Amino acid sequence: MRLIKLICFLFVVQVYAQQGGMWIPSLLEGMNEDEMQSLGSKLTAKDIYDVNNSSLKDAIGHFNGGCTSEIISSQGLLLTNHHCGYGQIQSHSSLENDYIKNGFWAMNLNEELPNEGLYVEFIVRIEDVTTAMLKGITDEMSAREKQSLIDKNRNGVEKKIKKEDWQGIKIRPFYKGNQYYLFVTERFEDIRLVGAPPASIGKFGSDTDNWVWPRHTGDFSLFRIYADKNNRPASYSEDNVPYKPKHYLPVSLDGIEEGDFTMVFGFPGRTNEYLPAVAVEQITQKVNPSNIAIREAALEVIDANMQTDDLVRIQYASKQARIANAWKKWIGENLGIEKSGAIQIKRDFEMEFTKALKAQRLESEYGAILPEFERLYAEFEPVNVKRNSFVQVFLVTNELMQMMLRVAQLEMASKNGQAAFNRARNSTINQIKRIHKNYSVKVDRGVYEKVMPLYTDKIDVSIYETTAFVDLDKALAVLEGDMEDVITKLNSDPAYVYAKPMIMEFFNQYEPEFQRMNTEINGLQTTYMKALMQVMPDQRYFPDANSTMRVTYGKVNGYAPRDAVYYNPVTYLDGVIEKYQPSDYEFDVPEKLRELYTAKDYGDYADANGKLPICFLGTNHTTGGNSGSPALDAEGNLIGLNFDRVWEGTMSDIYYDPEICRNIMVDLRYVLFIVDKYAGAKHLIDEMDLVHPKR
Ligand code: ARG
Ligand code: GLU
Repeated sequence: MRLIKLICFLFVVQVYAQQGGMWIPSLLEGMNEDEMQSLGSKLTAKDIYDVNNSSLKDAIGHFNGGCTSEIISSQGLLLTNHHCGYGQIQSHSSLENDYIKNGFWAMNLNEELPNEGLYVEFIVRIEDVTTAMLKGITDEMSAREKQSLIDKNRNGVEKKIKKEDWQGIKIRPFYKGNQYYLFVTERFEDIRLVGAPPASIGKFGSDTDNWVWPRHTGDFSLFRIYADKNNRPASYSEDNVPYKPKHYLPVSLDGIEEGDFTMVFGFPGRTNEYLPAVAVEQITQKVNPSNIAIREAALEVIDANMQTDDLVRIQYASKQARIANAWKKWIGENLGIEKSGAIQIKRDFEMEFTKALKAQRLESEYGAILPEFERLYAEFEPVNVKRNSFVQVFLVTNELMQMMLRVAQLEMASKNGQAAFNRARNSTINQIKRIHKNYSVKVDRGVYEKVMPLYTDKIDVSIYETTAFVDLDKALAVLEGDMEDVITKLNSDPAYVYAKPMIMEFFNQYEPEFQRMNTEINGLQTTYMKALMQVMPDQRYFPDANSTMRVTYGKVNGYAPRDAVYYNPVTYLDGVIEKYQPSDYEFDVPEKLRELYTAKDYGDYADANGKLPICFLGTNHTTGGNSGSPALDAEGNLIGLNFDRVWEGTMSDIYYDPEICRNIMVDLRYVLFIVDKYAGAKHLIDEMDLVHPKR
């Protein structure tokens, strides 16, 4: 008896140690299904993904290309994060109707707010198209030749595929281009805002708590998908009706306990789990520090202005959050790589690989890969850092330089004639309008002063006095008239005269160099991946995230980030009150929420201990794009909403360490509590299927 227990224990530990991975939903049968069931899942692979019957996947939508969302009622009610709907919440907000500050709740369908440009995409089916995509590819071909043949093959595959008129197709490379999968998609474009808590709940803790545990953020918002009268995707129309989904997620009222099975289903964006050690070194020692410094310089200016000026606070809310988010993530990533010893682990692994090559007599085929990586990355380093800096300055932080980049592209388009110019002019105008919609010259000039010295030693603040582009009307006037005129006017604008040489240097020199070396490195990475899977077939291989639908699973679990420190996996409302700082911009708590706490008025949403749960941790392997992903229990009921990872574990994009990598989810009971008790939007709760799987 004891022995059997010991064996079971060892088996569980073994499985546990192996965790990590983002798996393709159509390929779960076998290894993943077994592993999930050994962790407590009651689901079959077909419950999760089925082409012929409705399955869990039908409830999971890619939210605007960058986040995940899920349907939680028969009426197309859609749940995602507050930070995923932030742009929409912001766009409906003004000083008079400040939905960021006060929250927003539609009390009936008529009050739901349409959102131009917002879409949600579902996966109808997934097909392996590797053979057709790699047809004719040989080892002798250069990376370029391979790519052009693959592009040709792609056309052939797309033409042959059977789908309905309203459906779309996507083909994506997996395992670094050693496999290809095709996705038939359905895209809904009439998505309306239904509800959002105030930022003091939805963004509670803001940047101080971002990427950090213990966490107390109610990071959710609600939307609704509308369809035409045939229940098909349609662009916005007053006549559209709530979408009737093939599947929607029941919501569990029973909550979670440490050790419970959890599964996260969503659209993770990008990971890089198979990089050689030399690449990880470059990222952590060169690229991250340079990018961090540029963003930090911009944030110093933006933060100071947001705290003293309410209009700037609204204008820069979304932008600031975006800049701060990756800034803090990179810092955590560097710490995690350091702490986990990932570079040395990779070096050791590469020694194993080299030994295995020898043993299998594959040195002539694959022996050059690792030395070649060393050579290429050394050459790549200055170009890689420079290009990253350009992006951080000209695309992420400094808005005047962003406008200059756009108009430089307009001038380049003019070289291709009138028609090309006209097209480019329209998009340039739109981009400039978009920037000016939330623009403060004072803030942007401050950003310029701090950021530009990190890119060049040519600084000239006076351009802000004389350029037309800090004023929308004047900027649009420059772009008016015939082509020659516009180009002449542009070339006498001081900001353009200043920026143009740097932009041209980028397009003529850094960018082509970067692309050339990047193509070479990617080609080598494809061969490396192939070699790994052939030479060391017993390793755990999952394809890197690429914004396609994935399943990841694990358990509710705390963690020990430092000596003598252990973090519990669940936080409670008590912790919100502990962090409460009256009128602080990050840690204020709405009066109503404090009253509910004092009265312990938690409805059906409290834990067995009488406390109201807020967030919990799991060992699910997630990344950016998994925001808004559902966390499901062993039966496929909704128990949580993924929104973050712990700081010590953000290096999981490069190296997944089951000891310290955790994802952070909002407990669904907190979501229900806020909708019901805080917002009084009981009608939304009534739409959902609330279940008690543990009773
Ligand atoms: N860190 C999470 C993610 O990567 C949440 C970001 C939004 N929250 C924030 N305070 N900026 O997207
Ligand atoms: N907050 C991230 C997102 O927006 C998810 C957290 C992560 O990167 O793991 O997708």
